Amino acid sequence: MAPDRVAVVTGAASGVGLGLAERFAAEGMQVVLADVEEPALRAAAARLSERGAKVLAVPTDVANAGQVESLRDEAVRAFGAVHVLCNNAGVGGPHDPLWRVTPGDWQWVLGVNLGGVINGIRSFVPLLLEQDAAHIVNTASVFGVFAGALGPYGISKHAIVALSETLYFDFQAAGARVGVSVLCPGAVRTRFGTSARNRPASLGPATDSSGESERASREQFDRLLVTAGREPADVAGFVVDGIRQSRFYILTSENRNDAIRRRGDEIVAGGPPAAPFP
Ligand SMILES: NC(=O)c1ccc[n+]([C@@H]2O[C@H](COP(=O)([O-])OP(=O)(O)OC[C@H]3O[C@@H](n4cnc5c(N)ncnc54)[C@H](O)[C@@H]3O)[C@@H](O)[C@H]2O)c1
Repeated sequence: MAPDRVAVVTGAASGVGLGLAERFAAEGMQVVLADVEEPALRAAAARLSERGAKVLAVPTDVANAGQVESLRDEAVRAFGAVHVLCNNAGVGGPHDPLWRVTPGDWQWVLGVNLGGVINGIRSFVPLLLEQDAAHIVNTASVFGVFAGALGPYGISKHAIVALSETLYFDFQAAGARVGVSVLCPGAVRTRFGTSARNRPASLGPATDSSGESERASREQFDRLLVTAGREPADVAGFVVDGIRQSRFYILTSENRNDAIRRRGDEIVAGGPPAAPFP
């Protein structure tokens, strides 16, 4: 987090990722912004560099292992090292009953959300292990720590939490000087509700979410992000404090704590799970 250290942020063109990139730049760090949405990525990098930040924009689809390796190589070529890696890029996808979700949507949501974090770990960890200090922040969601919900999205976020816990144990066993945090935000005011703007058409048909109840639940969820969501800058503040304090789980919405505790009680009592969300 010291000035001139290097941060790499995926999904940096918008929302939480942009908030992180802006905050790291304000801390004097050199920032590599990666995103699949190239015009927004270029615009975000230009704004930061006008303010005097040292930035590099690397168009990257995190679901593509080769592109994430190129991201690492370009970061090292430009700035010589990577000290903070934020595997943050993520998409929402359908909230429909699981059996109605199309193969393309499963591939999209799991490929970006979970595959993107896996690609980040595989490409960057060997480099980070060689350095004097480094920290990885994986963006999950509060939907990764209370009972599963929201279709493939919640499943991908539970997997990111489990991946981060496993990575933490792996680092402990290896005596690595690499910290890990898993960011589990509640609602944040971002462009998340329009994630489908980045869904590749090559994945085939999207899930038919035109049913009345699916549409109503979706609209309620998207409205919540806008009306009750935190600002990305606040979330970035939680992350910076979390890295400084070596916090593993970084939560941003206290109003979800009861649902998190309840899940533990339900598991021990034999369940069933209570719906975490209206
Ligand atoms: N907004 C919320 O309420 C909320 C809550 C909990 C967790 N999150 C998580 O925060 C992260 C960021 O989402 P956000 O809310 O800022 O949404 P956002 O849509 O504003 O930002 C996501 C960014 O990821 C990029 N992206 C999408 N697919 C990509 C890919 N294949 N490769 C690289 N970049 C890609 C998008 O172009 C976009 O710039 C996600 O992982 C999301 O699941 C968001």
